[in-house]
Amino acid sequence: MEQNLKGKNILVTGASRGIGRAVSRAVAGAGANVILTARSEDALSDLKKEILSSGGRAEYITADLESEKEIQDLFSKIGENYSGLDVLINNAGIARAGELVDCPIRDFNMLMNVNLKAVYLCCKHALKMMIAAGSGYIINISSVVGIKGYANQAAYSASKHGVVGLSKALADEVQKYGIRVSLIHPGGVDTDLVKGTRPDLDSSLLLKPEDIAQAVLYLLSLSPRAMVDEIYIRRSLGKPF
Ligand SMILES: NC(=O)c1ccc[n+]([C@@H]2O[C@H](COP(=O)([O-])OP(=O)(O)OC[C@H]3O[C@@H](n4cnc5c(N)ncnc54)[C@H](OP(=O)(O)O)[C@@H]3O)[C@@H](O)[C@H]2O)c1
Repeated sequence: MEQNLKGKNILVTGASRGIGRAVSRAVAGAGANVILTARSEDALSDLKKEILSSGGRAEYITADLESEKEIQDLFSKIGENYSGLDVLINNAGIARAGELVDCPIRDFNMLMNVNLKAVYLCCKHALKMMIAAGSGYIINISSVVGIKGYANQAAYSASKHGVVGLSKALADEVQKYGIRVSLIHPGGVDTDLVKGTRPDLDSSLLLKPEDIAQAVLYLLSLSPRAMVDEIYIRRSLGKPF
């Protein structure tokens, strides 16, 4: 896909591996200044080096998105070091598998904090910059589990349904500022997250992180006149509709 994101400041959460890593490489490849964040400094540093060595622009800021303070610090650093934020990609996420009766409340709290509350807070901080600029794009990575229900994933599913509700309301709320909010609902991508929760799935039959990165690039390629609210992207071997 021919694309020019030159000069765009794009924050990718969960950039250290999986989908976030592929998205970061893709937007950097299209010319963006990518701001990588996650907890794993070594992985972020390696990705930054890789992007720089292929002629791209990248910086990283570590943050634990469970912490409101670290989210605040992340955006303070962005405010100090960048002219603004053009795109926020809320991708970081965690999953837990197991029946609800056995699910410890600390797992529920952690899922809600990382998958939903951090998305809410990152949107809040990013919007302050975007509203001032009169433009911006927020892409929230939900899941097919944010639309459907799957056994053994009640807390994860609740967090992703929350992301869907948040995104729909926010899209309506901030359109007047020239800010767009879209959702991507992936299903079955070959990453550590799936290996941990669905070890039964044959990884060769799953989507690759690069497939989700392509969907992100597609959204970012649209003119401000055009709006795609959501992309539901699943394995072509799965059941249609
Ligand atoms: N894989 C799938 O099939 C699939 C399907 C639908 C939706 N999704 C969604 O896609 C997104 C990415 O998932 P993935 O499959 O790429 O998972 P992954 O490979 O496990 O990567 C998750 C990313 O989130 C970051 N992260 C986790 N907890 C964090 C925390 N407390 N603070 C900051 N960063 C944190 C991780 O970085 P650190 O550990 O370095 O902090 C990592 O970069 C998630 O929102 C997931 O729900 C995935």
